[in-house]
Amino acid sequence: MLTVANVSKTYSGKKLFIDVTTSFAPGNRYGLSGPNGAGKSTFMKILEGALEPDDGSVSRPRKTAYLKQDQSAYNEHTVLDTVMMGNAVLWEAMVERNKIYESGDESDEAGMRLAELEGVVAEENGYMAESEAEELLQGLGIPGELHQTLMSEMSGGNKVRALLAQALFGAPDCLLLDEPTNSLDLDTIEWLEEFLYSYGGVLVVISHDRRFLNDVCTHIADIDFETIITYPGNYDDMVRAKAAVRERQLMQNQAREKKISDLKDFIAKFSAGTRATQVQSRKKMVEKLAPADVKRSNIARPFIRFEIGRESGKHVVDVEHVTKDWGEGPLYTDFRSHVNRGDRIGIIGKDGMGKTTLLKLLTGEYKVDGKGKIEWGHETNVGYLPQEHEDTIEPGKTIDRWLHDYKPQADLEEIRGLLGRMLFRGDDGLKQTKTLSGGERVRMLFCKLMLLKHNVLVLDEPTNHLDLEGCSALAEGLAEYKGTLFVATHDRNLLSEACTRIWRIRDGEILDFQGSYDEFVERYGH
Ligand SMILES: Nc1ncnc2c1ncn2[C@@H]1O[C@H](COP(=O)(O)OP(=O)(O)OP(=O)(O)O)[C@@H](O)[C@H]1O
Ligand SMILES: [Mg+2]
Repeated sequence: MLTVANVSKTYSGKKLFIDVTTSFAPGNRYGLSGPNGAGKSTFMKILEGALEPDDGSVSRPRKTAYLKQDQSAYNEHTVLDTVMMGNAVLWEAMVERNKIYESGDESDEAGMRLAELEGVVAEENGYMAESEAEELLQGLGIPGELHQTLMSEMSGGNKVRALLAQALFGAPDCLLLDEPTNSLDLDTIEWLEEFLYSYGGVLVVISHDRRFLNDVCTHIADIDFETIITYPGNYDDMVRAKAAVRERQLMQNQAREKKISDLKDFIAKFSAGTRATQVQSRKKMVEKLAPADVKRSNIARPFIRFEIGRESGKHVVDVEHVTKDWGEGPLYTDFRSHVNRGDRIGIIGKDGMGKTTLLKLLTGEYKVDGKGKIEWGHETNVGYLPQEHEDTIEPGKTIDRWLHDYKPQADLEEIRGLLGRMLFRGDDGLKQTKTLSGGERVRMLFCKLMLLKHNVLVLDEPTNHLDLEGCSALAEGLAEYKGTLFVATHDRNLLSEACTRIWRIRDGEILDFQGSYDEFVERYGH
């Protein structure tokens, strides 16, 4: 059992939750929901123990494992090491032990320390650790030849599998997952669902994927204005229950308001007359009847519009003989295509097929193999949103300053206007860049792209981290975009609303389909 008692947390005056008491039982599968910035990741860090609440306490199973929202945290480690880091005590002992061996230090002190460390390693079953980690990875579908690969080189789906293996290393009684579905294709999401069904411990998972929450969850713990309420059922059940409560409150308030206005009429009519005591008692009744605050809804929708500064030429990019091979067989061979101004291309394909690689070839970050060429046309001005953007907003600034630095000649009104459209209001401009939540960071990157008015946008999985309102606002904004768009995504709503052309990567080939996503599906299936 995971129990939370009277927990409160406030950040620089913003109350995230006050006096929350709740519990999570093994065997149930809890979804933690709430819009971007509601405090989901913060609450999960408190559950895990990485963060202390201002007040209150948490009691958790001894072995509690945690998959962070930041999936780039282990980028410079190999897959196998990442998994073994799941047992921190063991990992630290092994690292220190190896350091002493490598240093060649033969002093008594070093010897004593080594003996101590070997003791820890033995206690944690360290001699079996590597083979256990390997077995776990195999079980999650990561073949042996990838175990020594760096995490930075793994595709989104495999990375999540490896991080999950890390969380599972040491058989935890409690599993906390912060947005594990980001970047995953449908097959991998289904795989994850199956996997979670069979997990018997305490499970709490954060996701903005409604379908996933509906499929997986037996309960939803919803963060709404300073409190957390747990509803039985899946995500849609929670939305219905919440709407019903709200409806009831509204009706009660209407009845009260009617009564108040009747009483006030009476008071106005007779206040100068003889019925002084009746008037007094009715005045008291009015005071008592003040309508209860109907809970505001915490759901808000950003307004996303990408305008363009100067138009590009009609020919936007020529792709000729593009081949890319990282040494394990080509991702694609001899791809050719011509892109015109105003094309909005959705790039689809399973995890690991090379969507990100293709975008990076387009932006010039990677080089094309052999004689292939990618030639940009006249006056093109490309804005790029990478798939992993944990490091793209440097810490140590306020967010309005960060944004302003990209266009120093912009006046403050423009900056504030943009921030407001992306739901940073009032003093939010003074928020520190390092404190942004996942969804808030993406909204800031959109602010930057809107500010710079590019005539070409290259977006890699832009709906990762965004809440439902954010995702639909983005689809709408991209559908209105007058420039040229390349977007790699698994979000079918976005593909269907915004794209006029599809590049599908599969089995080493790119299919260039001149039509909408719906037409594509009709013809080729998913
Ligand atoms: N160290 C900090 N100092 C000040 N404010 C912070 C800090 N960490 C987080 N916040 C703020 O607390 C709020 C909640 O952040 P949190 O990361 O928990 O949100 P979230 O619900 O996980 O959002 P998302 O869906 O975008 O991931 C945000 O407004 C964030 O800016
Ligand atoms: Mg979060």
